[in-house]
Amino acid sequence: MRDAAPASPSETVYLKDYAPPPVAVRHVALRFRLDPEATRVVARLDCERTGDGPMVLDGEGLKTLRVEIDGAALPFADLIDGHRMTIPETPDRFVLETEVEIAPVRNKALSGLYMSNGMYCTQCEAEGFRRITWMLDRPDVMATYDVEIEADLPVRLSNGDEAGPGRWHDPWPKPTYLFALVAGNLVATSDRFTTMEGRDVALNVWVRPGDEGRTGFAMDALKRSMLWDERVWGRAYDLSVFNVVAVDDFNMGAMENKGLNVFNASYVLASPETATDTDYAFVERIVAHEYFHNWTGNRITCRDWFQLCLKEGLTVYRDQQFMADTRSAPVQRIGEVLTLRARQFREDAGPLAHPVRPESFVEINNFYTATVYEKGAEVIRMLRVLVGDAAFERGAQLYFERHDGEACTIEDWLACFEEASGRDLAQFALWYSQAGTPRVTVRESFADGTYRLEFGQAVPPTPGQTEKRPMVIPLAFGLLSEDGREIAPTQVFELTEATGSLEIAVAERPVPSMLRGFSAPVILDAGQSDADRLVLLAHDTDPFARWEAGRALSKDRLVRHAAEGRAFDAGWLDAMHRVATDAEADPAFRALALSLPSEDDLAQAVHEAGVVPDPDRIRATREAAQRALAERLGDDLDALRAACRVKVPYSPDAADAGRRSLAGVLLRLRTRLDGGEAARVAYAEADNMTDRMAAFACLLEAGDPSVAAAFEADWRHDRLVMDKWFSAQVSHAAPDVAVAVAETLIRRPDFDPSNPNRFRAVIGALAGNMAGFHRADGSGYRFVAERLVEMDATNPQMAARLSSAFSTRALWDADRQAMMRDALEQLAREAGSRDLREMVGRMLAD
Ligand code: TRP
Ligand code: ZN
Repeated sequence: MRDAAPASPSETVYLKDYAPPPVAVRHVALRFRLDPEATRVVARLDCERTGDGPMVLDGEGLKTLRVEIDGAALPFADLIDGHRMTIPETPDRFVLETEVEIAPVRNKALSGLYMSNGMYCTQCEAEGFRRITWMLDRPDVMATYDVEIEADLPVRLSNGDEAGPGRWHDPWPKPTYLFALVAGNLVATSDRFTTMEGRDVALNVWVRPGDEGRTGFAMDALKRSMLWDERVWGRAYDLSVFNVVAVDDFNMGAMENKGLNVFNASYVLASPETATDTDYAFVERIVAHEYFHNWTGNRITCRDWFQLCLKEGLTVYRDQQFMADTRSAPVQRIGEVLTLRARQFREDAGPLAHPVRPESFVEINNFYTATVYEKGAEVIRMLRVLVGDAAFERGAQLYFERHDGEACTIEDWLACFEEASGRDLAQFALWYSQAGTPRVTVRESFADGTYRLEFGQAVPPTPGQTEKRPMVIPLAFGLLSEDGREIAPTQVFELTEATGSLEIAVAERPVPSMLRGFSAPVILDAGQSDADRLVLLAHDTDPFARWEAGRALSKDRLVRHAAEGRAFDAGWLDAMHRVATDAEADPAFRALALSLPSEDDLAQAVHEAGVVPDPDRIRATREAAQRALAERLGDDLDALRAACRVKVPYSPDAADAGRRSLAGVLLRLRTRLDGGEAARVAYAEADNMTDRMAAFACLLEAGDPSVAAAFEADWRHDRLVMDKWFSAQVSHAAPDVAVAVAETLIRRPDFDPSNPNRFRAVIGALAGNMAGFHRADGSGYRFVAERLVEMDATNPQMAARLSSAFSTRALWDADRQAMMRDALEQLAREAGSRDLREMVGRMLAD
C-alpha cells in the first residue's frame, strides 16, 4: 500500500507552535530482514504517556502489515491518513508493535533505507526514519535501541555496541534521526583508541573491497579528533566501538549517527594519487565534524528542527577550531571568511535569506544552509569574544553537565552563558532571530592628539522581516602608525546601538586595522584609502586584516575595470608583487593574497557600485587582471614556482599543501603568458593529484582540452577521480561552450544522475561557472532547470539544493532576470516535491 495523499505543500511548520509529544518512547527494538525489494521491519516501541491527546506516528512509503498495542491488533487501515497514523487512545504504559515492508533498492531519494552499489545503508536526518518504520519521528523523542539485522551479508552494523552477530545495543538515548544501519560486503581498516577515562575503543573505517588503501588519512584524522576533543573541550567518547562507513551515493557530506558515522565516500577516501590537498582538508574537517557531533548533537540534541544551529553552528565552530589548531590558524580563518562571504552573505542578500534559527519551514531539508551552519558558527565565535574565554569555557561545561541526555533549545544554550558570565544576552540573541548581514560603517577623525572613530550599523530588510533592531557587534581593531608600527594592540569595541563612537589619545593620525580576525559577520564600510590599505597589507600584525587589505585593493581594481573600464595601476601591481615575493610570509598566505576575488564576488560588488554586472565582462576583467599580474611578476614567476617545490614523498600537511597551493596560483598566472606551455610540462610531471588538477585546470582555461583524453585513459576506473574530470571540464569551460560541454558529458554512459556526486560534478559545476551559466541566450538557465526537474522526480533534496543557483536573479539585467524567472516558473509548474516547490516559491516571491 503506497500512501495516497502527499503532504500538502502549504503545510508550513512554525516554531511558535511547538508542543511536546503526549507519548514518550523509552526503548525501540527493531528487527530487519533485509531484501532489496521487500525488506521487513518489525518495530517494538516501549511507550509511556506523558500528556493528553492522540498518539500521532509518522510513516512514509511504508507497506503496513501489522499494528498491535500490547499484543492486540489495531485496525490500522482506519488509522492511517497519508503520512500519519493516529491512535486516539492508549494505556499509560504500553508496547506498540508494527510490521512494515519497504523496498530499499527502489529508494532513489537516498533518505531512509536505500541501496548504494549493493550495500544497504540509511540516512535518517532530518525525517528519513519515517521511511523505515512508523514512529514519532521528531528529535525530542529519545530512546535506547536494540537492533537485529538478518541478511546473508558479512558486515551488518548499527548504532551502539555489538551484542552478537548482526545485533546491536545502543545504551545512549537518541532521537530517530541518529539511527543508522549498514550492511554489505565491506572491509575495514581498524585501529584502537584509549579515552582519557580509560575506555578502550575499537575504531573501524569500512569501505568497499579495493578502497582499503585510501583509509589511512581518515583514520588518522579520527584519532586526532578524539584526542583534541578530550584536550580542548573535555569530551570523551562513550562506546566501545566507533564505526565510519564510506558510501558512494550520498546526498550531503556525512552523517553523525551515534557510533556509526556514514560518509560520502569522497570525504573519507584519500590517497596522494587520487585526492587533492583540498580533498584531504575536507576529509580531516568532516571526520572531525561528525565525531564532534557525538557531544554537540548526539548526547545533547535539538528539541525541534528550528534549533538546528544548536548542533550545527556549534559543531562547525568546533571543527573550525580543530582545523585552526591542526593547520595554520590565519589561513584557516581566511578560508572561513571566503566561504562565509561566497555562500552565506549571498544567501542573506537574496530571497532565501533566513535567520540562523528560522521561525517557519515547509521542508526542513531546505534549511541545512550556510546561514545555519556557517553563520551559526560565527555567532558562537562572537559569543566567546563577548563573554571572554574563561566564561565561555565555564558556560560550555555547564551546558554539557546540565543538558546531557536532553533535547534542547537555543534558550537553554544561552542561559548557560548568562549564568557563567553574569551578562544579559537578550540583545545578543538577535543574532539568532534577525536575518540579513549587518552593514557597519566606520568614520574617523583626528585632531589635537585625539583619534575619534564613529560607528554605525544597519541590518537590511529580509523576506518576512522588514524592521530590524540594532545588534551587539564585537568589532576588534588595532592601530598602526603610517610607517607600519603597531600603536595600539587589538581591542574590542562593542557596538550595541545604531551608532557609537570611541576616542583614543594618540600622538599622530593612526592607520586603523578594523574587524581584525573578522570578529563579526558583517559588511564593513570603513571608507579606507589606498594608502592605508597598502600600510596594512605590508605591516598589519593581524593576518586576516592584512589579507583583507590586499583583497580590498584588488576588488576595488577589478570592480573599476569591469564597471568603468579603468586600467590596472602600477601601485596595485607593485603591492601584489611584494606579497608574492615576500619570503617571510607563509606560502599559503601568499597564495590567498594573490588569488583574485571570484566572479561571483565581483558581480555582487559591481551591483553594489550601482552598475548592472555583465558576466562576460567580469570574466574578461579577471583574465586581464591575471595577465597584468603575470606580466608584473615577470621573471620572478618561474623562480617563485621553483621555490615552491616540495619534498617527496607527498604529505598533505599544511606547509606542503601551502607550497603546492602557491605553485598552483603561479602556474595559473604563467598560463596567461605562455598559452599553457608550462602547464603541459607540469601535467606531465605531476606525481600527485593536487599538482595534476592544477595543471589540468590551467590547460582547460587555456582552451587546450586535449589533456582530458589522457586524464580519462588514466583514471576511467576511479569514480572519485572521474568526478573531478567531469567537474573540471565544466567549471573551466569558456562561457560560450560551457553548456555544450555539460550537454555532451551528460550523454556519456558513465554519467549516472542518480549518483549525487556525479550530478553535482556536472550540473553544480555549470551553475558555478558564472559566465557559462548566465549565458545571454538563456541556455544555461534552461539546461539547469531541465536537469532539476528530472532530478526532482527521484531525489527532491538534491534538486532543491541546487535550485539555489537561481537565487541571484535580482543582480542581473532585465533580459536575464526575465529568463531566470521563466526557468523558475518552469520549475514551479513541473516540480513534484515540496522540497523544490518551497525553494522555487521563495525565489519567486518578490
Ligand atoms: N547532520 C549532518 C552533518 O552536519 C548533515 C546532514 C543533514 C545530512 N541532513 C543530511 C547528511 C542528509 C546527509 C543527508 O554533518
Ligand atoms: Zn553537522
